Amino acid sequence: MMTMQTESPAQLDHLCVESTQPAVLARFYRDLLDCDESVVEQGFLMRGPRRAVLIRPAPTCGLAYAAYRLRDGNDLEKLRSRATAHGVACEPLHDPLFEQGAFAVADPQGRRTAFGVSCGTPARRGAPARLQHTVYQTTELEQIVRFYVEKLGFSISDEVVSESGGASVVFMRSDDEHHSLAFFKGSRNEWDHHCYETNEWNDIRDWGDRFAAAQIPIFFGPGRHGPGNNLFFMVTDPDGNRLEFSAELQSVSADAAPGVWPEGERTLNSWGRAWMRS
Ligand SMILES: [Fe+2]
Repeated sequence: MMTMQTESPAQLDHLCVESTQPAVLARFYRDLLDCDESVVEQGFLMRGPRRAVLIRPAPTCGLAYAAYRLRDGNDLEKLRSRATAHGVACEPLHDPLFEQGAFAVADPQGRRTAFGVSCGTPARRGAPARLQHTVYQTTELEQIVRFYVEKLGFSISDEVVSESGGASVVFMRSDDEHHSLAFFKGSRNEWDHHCYETNEWNDIRDWGDRFAAAQIPIFFGPGRHGPGNNLFFMVTDPDGNRLEFSAELQSVSADAAPGVWPEGERTLNSWGRAWMRS
């Protein structure tokens, strides 16, 4: 089966975040995430080493879209053709971090995802944390996963299955990394968290110390996830958006069958207690 992993691998490139207090949020990403701040048409553009966040003013807080980069224009056209052939509208997108030709799609619940070719992030020094995945909660897990798999070409790496037999979490990949996108079944449709992949466990320690110095408490972790096998902890930014810092996320080959995990705290955190969505 043709998938993004085999035909047009994509990585999470940046986020477009909406905020009621964009200047406050920008300060957080500048001071805590080592990002350079610049003012752009849409608001603030925050750029750090292998991570970037566009912050724009809005009446409510949340994620406007997650933006994935393709290797080149050919891969981008392959993805656009695939989406179009499956009846997905590809809306042209003007984004300061993507070359011309980028586009955005909306899933059946209106969640937007962008795809494009990166303009190239200028080299910048800072602590290692590569923007790597984003996760949502949804009331319609089965329908939403079908959209990303069948119409866009994401691959399922692992599913968490409840005692009744239905999936409650689905982790999907768009290249060799275990997941670049995941969905939790829940009572709300909202952004769950986004994640930065570091180089090793010692980086997790250093990020923990950095947030400790800023008196920002960890709210989940440290621990190790079952699916993905990565070490992690999570904190929140001033808008309450959840940031995860991870290490040792596993790779998955294109021919791997989806894994199945039982629903429970030990699946989400093999070291102990877990944040259970409801
Ligand atoms: Fe995560």
